[in-house]
Amino acid sequence: MLNLIKKIKKKIKNIKYIKKKDIINKTYIKYFGKKGYFKIIMKLFKNIPKKIKPKIGKIINKLKKKTINLINKQNLNIKKKIKINKNFIDISLPGNKSIKYGNLHPITITINWIEKFFNNLGFNTINNSEIENTYYNFNSLNIKKNHPTRSKKDTFWINKKKLLITQTSCIQTKYMKNKKPPIKAISIGNVFRKDYDKTHTPMFHQIEIFLVDYNINFSNLIYIIKNFLNIFFDKKVKTKIITSYFPFTEPSAEIYIKNNKNNWIEIIGCGLIHPKILKNVKINNNLFSGLAFGIGIERLTMIKYKINNIKKLYENNIEWLNQF
Ligand code: DAH
Repeated sequence: MLNLIKKIKKKIKNIKYIKKKDIINKTYIKYFGKKGYFKIIMKLFKNIPKKIKPKIGKIINKLKKKTINLINKQNLNIKKKIKINKNFIDISLPGNKSIKYGNLHPITITINWIEKFFNNLGFNTINNSEIENTYYNFNSLNIKKNHPTRSKKDTFWINKKKLLITQTSCIQTKYMKNKKPPIKAISIGNVFRKDYDKTHTPMFHQIEIFLVDYNINFSNLIYIIKNFLNIFFDKKVKTKIITSYFPFTEPSAEIYIKNNKNNWIEIIGCGLIHPKILKNVKINNNLFSGLAFGIGIERLTMIKYKINNIKKLYENNIEWLNQF
């Protein structure tokens, strides 16, 4: 019997190396089952001299406890491991450095900046749809039936009445028709024209800003635009203001600034809202007047970030975009 006790003492040292659940179960049976070591020991125990029984009994009990503890402990360890494997996320591993986080596209950066700037001045952002009917894109803006921008050559028509918007100005009448002054709004949109060369793409971004209130005049318009440009470029920007013609403004002007090659380019079309437009939306043009301007986002972005080719903005070259 003493030999068997010795053997068990040696064997139980291996319990902690068991890795599988079914082996743990088998081990339990090996020690405590009907034909297990401890059953054999108890049988032998009956026949030992009475004198030494208490001493040997204590040793056997101690060994039993130790064995069962070791089996239970290892059983728990195995269970824990199974759980970890099931939802395994090793948070101690180093991060994957090859993943590059994106950044905002320069066009988006410009749009966000301008939107925030005018929101802070109390202009509400309004949504524009990309498909509009001829009434809002042309008629309500006083654009005559024979105007070239209505032709198939210049505009993407969906059908005879609907088109991809050619300018964000088309939001003006749609928005104002149910409103009473004061009106201060900003609308950001993609606009579409059949143009494609070094400085034009068939889709580009515009921001339309307009304001209707008592006594709005041309100097208000120029004051807003000049301040906007100075703050946007963070320096005093030289501007050229050239009289122009837009059917929905009277008087109308174009604002030019210098581009990266030191050439003057138009970046804003603007004017005082034509009384006819106000009439179209049932605003009393004897009491109220308005200003409006449309900003070309690509051009402003190219000047601010010194980009010379507009196509760079649409190539989606991640390396290039990462610099902004
Ligand atoms: N919509 C014009 C364009 O696309 C730009 C423009 C001119 C907007 C005059 C205006 C404006 O609001 O008053 O060329």
